[in-house]
Amino acid sequence: MLIVGNWKMNGDRASNVQLLRALLEAGETPCSLAICAPHVYLADCAAQLHGSAISLGAQDVSQHERGAYTGEVSAAMLADIGCRYVIVGHSERRVGHHESDALVAAKLRRAWEAGLTPILCTGETRDEYYEGRTQVVLRAQLRGALAGISATADAVALIVAYEPVWAIGTGLAATPSLVQEVHQFLRRELAQLLPRRVPLLYGGSMKPDTAAALLALPDVDGGLVGGASLNAREFLAIANAAKQSPA
Ligand code: 13P
Repeated sequence: MLIVGNWKMNGDRASNVQLLRALLEAGETPCSLAICAPHVYLADCAAQLHGSAISLGAQDVSQHERGAYTGEVSAAMLADIGCRYVIVGHSERRVGHHESDALVAAKLRRAWEAGLTPILCTGETRDEYYEGRTQVVLRAQLRGALAGISATADAVALIVAYEPVWAIGTGLAATPSLVQEVHQFLRRELAQLLPRRVPLLYGGSMKPDTAAALLALPDVDGGLVGGASLNAREFLAIANAAKQSPA
């Protein structure tokens, strides 16, 4: 079981130190923890988390390997400063920055080349949900992102997150029955694409009061937490709601 905090574009040096200190002082939780900080704070976080059980991740990565790409951050740089994970294809980038499945696929490849474990985000918009297109959308996102990887599939580490766009930041998490149905679908789809079991995280308004029911579902291996990850007490309450499982 893995609980990942996606801090998004929040925090500052002082508040990050406080937040990480509170997580570190809390000691063991029944699951693994990771936090994905803004690029500019990753090195500070890496130093503070050094030697601890909490892993570090980034929120995005360049599709380019290196070179004249002003403002971009490469996968090798993220690995160099101690990242283990990188979020790829978050809906806030797909929607707000027009990231296509092809771009997401290129970013996944860069992450793998650098030895990072990408957390591939999938999810349907509110309209797609009401039109009953969730499965069609998720299938296209998975196939688009993972097209042609079978040759190297044994080597790749991958986590997939289901984050319904309509549940992100709204306070309205998807119901456990919907999450289980969608995760079961993702599990089946991924089994056709990769030879291994891929850990599946749920994200979208996961809070201490909704976490236990979501994390207890058979096809949920953890959570990708936005707003509640900015508060140590809430993030730890979610982590403590998790049971041990094979993720
Ligand atoms: P919230 O938990 O704030 O809804 O955000 C979820 C998310 O987007 C995590 O990546």
